[in-house]
Amino acid sequence: MRVALGLLTLLAVAPARAAEAPEVAQACLACHGEALAEGAPPIAGHSSNYIQLQLVFFRAGRRKNEIMQGVAEGLSDNDIRALGKYFASLPVPDAKPPADTRAELTRTGEATAARHRCAACHGDAYLGIQAAPRVARLPEAYLAKALTDYRAGTRPSSGGAAMTEVAGALSDADITALAHYLAVLP
Ligand code: HEC
Ligand code: HEC
Repeated sequence: MRVALGLLTLLAVAPARAAEAPEVAQACLACHGEALAEGAPPIAGHSSNYIQLQLVFFRAGRRKNEIMQGVAEGLSDNDIRALGKYFASLPVPDAKPPADTRAELTRTGEATAARHRCAACHGDAYLGIQAAPRVARLPEAYLAKALTDYRAGTRPSSGGAAMTEVAGALSDADITALAHYLAVLP
């Protein structure tokens, strides 16, 4: 009994470790590893639920992207669960924000984000809360594309269609400013 309790304590204080990479994750790292392929966002450290949901959306063709629809087509439900668990167990990449050469656009983006209350769902530091993922310091072009896709309906939104509604009210100029602001967040 003593031994068992000791072991439990040990498990409780052991630092969280990355889950072992499932075989099926190897192919992902070519685009979502330390170096990102063009257009590919980092996925490490997103919640398992968010990752799984996006893979299901791609597999069903509801989130349109030629590359990811092709990738997701071959994944079973078990693969998707394992991938969600694995990538969620990895630390969020601590990317330094790119140098901000457009301070005025940043201020416009900040004001636009305040007007649309983006932080209410994504958190004050934009690191994500529940269904709303981390959006801080994602690649600027990816952020702009994501918002444009929600607005165009080529990407569905979880969270009671939260993003479809939010993005519907954004102009092209709003999207440009928001993507820049989030990409260069300190
Ligand atoms: C050849 C490159 C490539 C490979 C291989 C690849 N991806 Fe992707 N992935 C992309 C691109 C590009 C996007 C952005 C799609 C978009 O713009 O909607 C993406 C998007 C995603 C997203 C959505 C991220 C978000 O923030 O919403 C997830 C999750 C994802 N990929 C998981 C995976 C997994 C898991 C694998 C391996 C089974 C994988 N990808 C393999 C290129 C790739
Ligand atoms: C009511 C809550 C809510 C509000 C307000 C909100 N979001 Fe979201 N956001 C979400 C949820 C939930 C998701 C995940 C949707 C999905 O399943 O694709 C999301 C996803 C996103 C993504 C996709 C991230 C990725 O990795 O692909 C971006 C970018 C984003 N939001 C930016 C914004 C911006 C900018 C605003 C303000 C203009 C905003 N959000 C306001 C809830 C919200």
